[in-house]
Amino acid sequence: MTAVGIDAIEIRTGKLKLDLPNTFAPEKGDDPAKYTKGLGLNNSSFPDVYEDIVTMGANAAKTLMDRKGLVPEDIGRIDVATESAFDHSKPVSTYIAGCLEQVYDGDFTHANKGERKFACVAGTQAIDDAYNWIRAGRNRGRAALVIATDTALYARGDPGEATQGAGAVAMLIDEDPSIVELSTHQGYGSKDETDFLKPNQQFPSVDGKRSMQVYLARMREALEDYQSVAGKVELDDFAYAPFHTPFPGMVRKAALLAYRHVIRDTSYEDDLAGEIGRQPREAEYDDREAFEEAIREYMDELKGTDQYQAWYADVVEPTLGLAREVGNWYTGSVHVARTSALRDLLERDGDGVGETLLVGSYGSGAQAEIHAETVCEGWQAEIEALDIDAQLAARYDLSWEEYEDVHDVHEYDKELDREIEEFTAPEAEFVFTGWGRMNE
Ligand code: CAA
Repeated sequence: MTAVGIDAIEIRTGKLKLDLPNTFAPEKGDDPAKYTKGLGLNNSSFPDVYEDIVTMGANAAKTLMDRKGLVPEDIGRIDVATESAFDHSKPVSTYIAGCLEQVYDGDFTHANKGERKFACVAGTQAIDDAYNWIRAGRNRGRAALVIATDTALYARGDPGEATQGAGAVAMLIDEDPSIVELSTHQGYGSKDETDFLKPNQQFPSVDGKRSMQVYLARMREALEDYQSVAGKVELDDFAYAPFHTPFPGMVRKAALLAYRHVIRDTSYEDDLAGEIGRQPREAEYDDREAFEEAIREYMDELKGTDQYQAWYADVVEPTLGLAREVGNWYTGSVHVARTSALRDLLERDGDGVGETLLVGSYGSGAQAEIHAETVCEGWQAEIEALDIDAQLAARYDLSWEEYEDVHDVHEYDKELDREIEEFTAPEAEFVFTGWGRMNE
């Protein structure tokens, strides 16, 4: 069976940044460590006044197409994953294709375009759609362009405000990929949940604490489902575990849960038994509450073991590098985590080919998906080509007042009582020039 997977990636960050410990925390009267240590975030990316989900997506896609020497004829499908769409009918992919057609010979008339929505898991779902389209032999030799793009904004004063972010990840899905091959095994955990909603509103209504519990519950189900098809996961199977990262502190919790689940009834658990005992079994307790308390105590102890700490440092921490600097990108977030992992792999011994990743995606509402990926020949050149460090370094550092202006600009329905100038100068890129028109 021919390998199908991710052949190229491009990341486009919003061109502004909000410094959480130095600008956000003092304004909120909080200890900066709540953000840097608790949530695990240093900065958030924001779009300049001339950026939005379309321009960030189109700019990421153009960089990818130029680097790979592609023209519209080479692409048979454009899917955009977003939870920031401003149009309830016309998919964002048509806006992005319209931008790209302004700068390439040829057009995307032949390409199937769509928009995928299921909160943050939609980017992974769009990759799945592309994978299935290629596997079904309907691609006629063409590749699929998947673009995950979001302005992840919360209402000012919402607890989620600290976790905002904005950016796009463009990915080319193709046969014989140069970055990772996708496995055929997948696991799901999916349930109707109402912890994070946007019914006809731009900013989410969110029950933050509940949303964290839902994330963990769906991830656990997805892991169980994945193991039911792929077999029991062993700790040594995976070099990295990139997970959806609304903020790194969330992944810290998910990683501990996954670790506990994976080591249950294995020699790893036996090794730890002398130190912290075996995991509590529900049957050993009279009531659920006592069992849950025992689990919490076990997890606290597990977290402190050298064995867990070493696994976390090796397999999870490297996936969080970019997220700490950009915040939550919703649909792009897990793909940013994968990219962080592969950037770390560049620093490790060996050529990295054949290493595997356990990728955990999650969308509120709610659904988690877990699958494996295998690193392919050619991945180094693709990852080395990314210019994300330069983009991050070039971001304009917002003052608090400027942040409020930017937030107001990107609130679709807000009537502005003042003119807000751009903070950076556009450089040969797609910019927002008013509804329905995009120019390079
Ligand atoms: N030093 C070190 N750590 C500190 C600290 C200090 N001075 N002060 C606080 N902390 C720690 C807290 O102990 C906490 O860590 P633990 O959870 O490990 O205990 C962490 O910092 C955050 O502090 P709070 O819980 O007090 O923060 P909060 O209540 O203000 O906000 C939140 C947290 C509710 C998650 C909020 O950020 C939020 O609503 N976020 C949006 C929803 C979200 O991202 N949910 C995640 C799951 S849903 C999802 O993943 C989909 C998606 O993309 C949105």
